[in-house]
Amino acid sequence: MSSLDGSVGIVTGGARGIGAACARKMAAEGARVVLADRLEDELNRTCGEIGELATAHVVDLKSELGVAGLIEETVRANGRLDFIVQNAAVQIEKPLHETTTEDWEHLHAVNLRAVFWGAKYAITHMLSRPGGGAIVNVGSVMSVASDPILAAYSTMKHGVLGLTRSIAVNKTYARAGIRANCICPGDVMTDMQVAYWSTLADPSKGREAIEAHYPGGQISLPTDIAEVACFLASSASRMVSGAELVVDGGRLPLYY
Ligand SMILES: NC(=O)c1ccc[n+]([C@@H]2O[C@H](COP(=O)([O-])OP(=O)(O)OC[C@H]3O[C@@H](n4cnc5c(N)ncnc54)[C@H](O)[C@@H]3O)[C@@H](O)[C@H]2O)c1
Repeated sequence: MSSLDGSVGIVTGGARGIGAACARKMAAEGARVVLADRLEDELNRTCGEIGELATAHVVDLKSELGVAGLIEETVRANGRLDFIVQNAAVQIEKPLHETTTEDWEHLHAVNLRAVFWGAKYAITHMLSRPGGGAIVNVGSVMSVASDPILAAYSTMKHGVLGLTRSIAVNKTYARAGIRANCICPGDVMTDMQVAYWSTLADPSKGREAIEAHYPGGQISLPTDIAEVACFLASSASRMVSGAELVVDGGRLPLYY
């Protein structure tokens, strides 16, 4: 029996990409998983593929009522919430001086404010019952480094790591068994990644150039991130809190 067997969790942005891979792996380990996303058709398809342990919850995470309702409905339907993987995000590729106020506010709303709300409502529930729970935030290597064309994205991802640490150092939370960690993936083969390549002058050359920077010559698969998310959501990581777990095959420490 795996360490997620019988637990209940939420994965935001679960319709596709890294979120779908996390939900798949968590359900395979025996967890009941609520997949939250705004893409209704894709969400229902992914839940259908996973099977009876997966439930679809259509929501726009830009709404506080939507995020609060997601936590409330999960607890109502399953009796509790043991972990939340806050994975949904959007990316805009622009240098700072070209970033509009609308771009900034959109990225802030989805990539950081929704993560604040998700943590706030999950923690409120986790404090109300014995056992605590795990907050698993999906940041990025952009939580600890930066890129000239990812100014707003990188700022919000730094914020996700700061929020994670703020939760982890709170003694009331920690003594109630609540942990928070931040996964920081490098490039991962998902729709978000393909959309980024499509903005480059020559997408296939761009992809080769990105992969060439990786010591192993390859970027991650969504399942690589899902493995780490399962570990952080489970009691196997009970003494891991406030950590940023970089998953990038050794790309980040490579200077030249
Ligand atoms: N793909 C990469 O290379 C990469 C690298 C580092 C970090 N990440 C991070 O991993 C996470 C997942 O990325 P991905 O590549 O799987 O992205 P993706 O675009 O494939 O999937 C993101 C999901 O989030 C959902 N979403 C976006 N805005 C939403 C909203 N307002 N309400 C509800 N759902 C919403 C989308 O519908 C989508 O299903 C993100 O936090 C991303 O920043 C990705």
